[in-house]
Amino acid sequence: MRAGEWDQRYAESRQWSAEPNRLVAELLADVSPGDAVDLAAGEGRHALWLAGQGWRVTAVDFSDVGLARGREQDSAGSVAWVTADVTTWSTGPDSLDLVLLAYLHLPEPEFSALLRRAVGWLRPGGRLLVLGHDAANIEHGVGGPQEPAILHSVDRLAGVAALLDVDRLEQVRRETPAGTALDTLLWGRRPA
Ligand SMILES: C[S@@+](CC[C@H](N)C(=O)[O-])C[C@H]1O[C@@H](n2cnc3c(N)ncnc32)[C@H](O)[C@@H]1O
Repeated sequence: MRAGEWDQRYAESRQWSAEPNRLVAELLADVSPGDAVDLAAGEGRHALWLAGQGWRVTAVDFSDVGLARGREQDSAGSVAWVTADVTTWSTGPDSLDLVLLAYLHLPEPEFSALLRRAVGWLRPGGRLLVLGHDAANIEHGVGGPQEPAILHSVDRLAGVAALLDVDRLEQVRRETPAGTALDTLLWGRRPA
């Protein structure tokens, strides 16, 4: 989907819960705060939660309407809200302690190229967290995009995982009111 289509979707109604994804919150609960980027931050549920945990957060998304919803809840101005296309946005090498990509689905080779650049932005020991709909979700899960070419899988993330010390690379289940959804998780650290 293009930025204008996301703007329209966000203008129609709130799309995601105000709460962070439960697995994202669990994985990050014990990680010391530092500098983080939330790529494709949408309405900012993760960026706002991270800021509340003491992280210095930049939230990047090409939907100004989505980001505006996050900005409205950020009365303290604790998040840097950046309207940009994540496939061209960049930051300095070795400058981040966390890059989060939650439910960003792009075709290849764009997605792997973005992840490889993201690894380069991490400081040694910095964390990469990728969570999104698994390709198997189409047949065996509920919700999410129905285009296999943009969905994640353990195999598709294996190339980027090879650049990391990997804590978890696996298919995970997510319970929703409509049933069980299948996601892919990559949770790793840039080698020291
Ligand atoms: C499913 S939403 C996820 C939002 C957020 N990460 C969350 O978990 O609540 C996907 C987001 O990706 C953004 N997006 C898609 N392609 C993008 C791109 N090339 N550059 C920046 N944002 C993009 C959309 O605007 C949308 O906000």
